[in-house]
Amino acid sequence: MTDNSLDLDSKAFARLLDRSSELVLNKFSNLESQKAFHDFPQKEIEHWFDEPLPKNGIDDFELLNFVKEKVLDTATNNLGPYMYAYVMAGGSQMSIIADKLASTINQNVGKWHLAPALSEIEKRVVQWAGQMMYYSSDAKGVLVSGGSAANLTGLTVARNVFFEKEEIRKKGLFGLKPFTAYASTEIHSCIDKSIDELGIGTDHLRKIQVNEDFTINLSALEETIKGDIDSGFTPFCIIGSAGTVNTGAIDDLEGLAAIAEKYQLWFHIDGAYGGLASTLDSVRDHYSGIEKADSLAVDFHKWLYQSFEAGCLLVKDWETLRRTYFKKASYLDTSLEEIGRLDFNEHYFQLSRSGKALKIWMSIKSYGIERIKRMIQKDIDLTHYLADQIEASEDFQLMSKSELAVTCFRYVKDLDSELEIEHFNQQLIPALEKDGRVFITGTKLNGQFVIRACLINHRMHEGTVDYLIEVIRDVAAAME
Ligand SMILES: Cc1ncc(COP(=O)(O)O)c(C=O)c1O
Repeated sequence: MTDNSLDLDSKAFARLLDRSSELVLNKFSNLESQKAFHDFPQKEIEHWFDEPLPKNGIDDFELLNFVKEKVLDTATNNLGPYMYAYVMAGGSQMSIIADKLASTINQNVGKWHLAPALSEIEKRVVQWAGQMMYYSSDAKGVLVSGGSAANLTGLTVARNVFFEKEEIRKKGLFGLKPFTAYASTEIHSCIDKSIDELGIGTDHLRKIQVNEDFTINLSALEETIKGDIDSGFTPFCIIGSAGTVNTGAIDDLEGLAAIAEKYQLWFHIDGAYGGLASTLDSVRDHYSGIEKADSLAVDFHKWLYQSFEAGCLLVKDWETLRRTYFKKASYLDTSLEEIGRLDFNEHYFQLSRSGKALKIWMSIKSYGIERIKRMIQKDIDLTHYLADQIEASEDFQLMSKSELAVTCFRYVKDLDSELEIEHFNQQLIPALEKDGRVFITGTKLNGQFVIRACLINHRMHEGTVDYLIEVIRDVAAAME
């Protein structure tokens, strides 16, 4: 190393890269024997990193060893097949490789000439996503950090385009009648956060009751819209779910599109969790109407098995995004402008943007869509397998089934009253976390606490699902 730059000489760099590859390979060795969660006390982990700002550097191999021991070896094991919590996909090897290459060239995909190939790749990936989901054969859109950002982006577009005549970007919300958005009670909390962040206020997000299958009740929706119009509000947007986080319920998208059309409202779909499953023939019918959405949020770090972060907002044309985000700035103008060059910063909030598209593009190229589809289908089939095991057992009670890969249930063995069941299951979750062999969390359905399993990992198989049930029984028995 010289002091002229931060770089190592190429031999030293190669040795370090080899060591980092060794660490990657080490994570993939015996994945099935690694715990899902390592129960270190928070204070202990805080202590590992508690040091003053380093004045001088340490040996890089020593640093990598420390990272191995304290970061890699203690990581919550999304990679492994025992992760059932939230919506935690296991990533894929190609996205690891692509991320490394993308950070090597360190492109800024804010302006075309700063990242020519990656700008084109991003456009291609967005178009492929639109085709996979039967949304549009020529979709436009932007890659964002995840589902929350994709929904926020979609609702920002909805607000800015819907109220363009009122010059909302210039005048803000001041002077406008309060406007209202509509979604089911099962909608993801990022929609509440988005509505809040957009200055609309969550009082104006109408939460519509759901049917027995947790899909939005269309007549209640229409009644609420009519009531709002009568009371002087301006309804502006319906938000449908293409797979809710709690139960994987897919709203009647066709029905929502018809209501949006009737009342001339923006139609946004949250497909962060379930959107990509629409590529499967087996569930395709449930997504009828997806093509009518004005905007569609999707997450590639979920059912495309990408490493965090990779979300996407899709729309039908670039103009929609430009009308929402374009801002002239002399230092960003360029005389190099050529027909066809698309600057993402003119179509999204961020200026500097990472090359997320590379991992998505390389994964789709490497695995091919048919193989990815087989993995999504496997997650769904395994979830049905889990639900069947639960249903057939005497010590568990199935609480929800899904077309997608999430199922909810409760442990009920020797528990007599509702109160006991509720209490026991609530205690079970932290006990399972402490045990660490599997990682699973809970939620509430119709006010009842339930254990929720989400399967979104191509490394799972029937044996690992059996293991989940076995571990829950084991930990429950120890609690009893
Ligand atoms: C239906 C749904 N919408 C939105 C989100 C938020 O996505 P992200 O965690 O990528 O921000 C999730 C996350 O699980 C989800 O399931």
